[in-house]
Amino acid sequence: MTAPLLEVRGLTTAFRTEEGEIRAVDGVSFAITSGKILGLVGESGCGKSMTALSIMRLVPPPGRIVSGQVLFRGRDLLTMGEADIRSLRGDRISMVFQEPMSALNPVFSIGDQVAEVLRVHRGLDGKEAMGEAERLLERVGIPDPARRISDYPHQMSGGMQQRALIAMAVACEPEVLLADEPTTALDVTVQAQILRLVEALISEGERGALLITHDLGVVAEVADAVCVMYAGSVVEAAPVQDLFDDPGHPYTIGLIQSLPTPGRRSFHAIPGNVPDLADLPAGCRFHPRCPRAQKICSEREPDLDGTAGRLVRCFYPGREHAAMKRMI
Ligand SMILES: Nc1ncnc2c1ncn2[C@@H]1O[C@H](COP(=O)(O)OP(=O)(O)O)[C@@H](O)[C@H]1O
Ligand code: SF4
Ligand SMILES: [Mg+2]
Repeated sequence: MTAPLLEVRGLTTAFRTEEGEIRAVDGVSFAITSGKILGLVGESGCGKSMTALSIMRLVPPPGRIVSGQVLFRGRDLLTMGEADIRSLRGDRISMVFQEPMSALNPVFSIGDQVAEVLRVHRGLDGKEAMGEAERLLERVGIPDPARRISDYPHQMSGGMQQRALIAMAVACEPEVLLADEPTTALDVTVQAQILRLVEALISEGERGALLITHDLGVVAEVADAVCVMYAGSVVEAAPVQDLFDDPGHPYTIGLIQSLPTPGRRSFHAIPGNVPDLADLPAGCRFHPRCPRAQKICSEREPDLDGTAGRLVRCFYPGREHAAMKRMI
């Protein structure tokens, strides 16, 4: 097996709040390998964006990375000097931020911003860079790119800004692309176009991507492997086909069952709400919502356990326990 491009080990990121310290990311581990897309899924607030921002060392204050390692080709991004991490960001590792406006510069046109990346990171001259920027804007589904290239971010809709940001993130041909909900604001056709672009990017050279989404449907379409997060921690990790064919964690089963299916009018939502990170339930964090919960589930937290790339954080995982009382 080839070494991972990027390996996250025991990453923990905390915020100090009035209610005490909360762990937005709590001991998260996964690996991004060459030629593969790893999907990171979970409901809003479970720590997906903070995981990506921690990898980039861009956690906004008062958040801070408490512990863990992020190994990029064997070097720990969390302990390297500020100048070193800066030189990797937006070059060998790039990120599509969930909030496009926070990542675009309001005083430069979209074309200038994409062309700048091409000049700095791919050494194109001014004219070549503009030509390539126009082609990239077309590839991310911006209509009439020859005209839109001189638009400023405030002249564009949220969806157009997001596409421009994706163009910038792929322009530097990063080895690792972290894409945080890159297609959420986009319609289905453009969404498919963006996902194909991410696939094309990682199919060349030694590249890999982390695709963050709350939408398991997006994961099903392009991811090779999946990590499911719940309340700051990973509850299941598996190759994509295994996850859909034979989900192990009751939360994953709930997510799959809440996917809209053609011909089925009402789909099942997981009952209850995600817990408040400042007031986590004892034992398994999912137990108040879990139809399989037993006494032990509120007393002890299960480990992330398993074999051969399939990991589940549950005392009663998979089909063998599916017949338990009140089973989903
Ligand atoms: N500025 C902040 N101050 C305090 N807590 C925060 C802040 N930003 C995020 N968090 C906490 O981090 C958790 C995870 O946030 P985030 O990673 O953005 O979730 P996701 O991307 O999965 O929707 C939130 O539920 C919240 O509790
Ligand atoms: S450990 Fe218990 S409560 Fe948690 S997911 Fe498994 S069965 Fe449900
Ligand atoms: Mg997010």
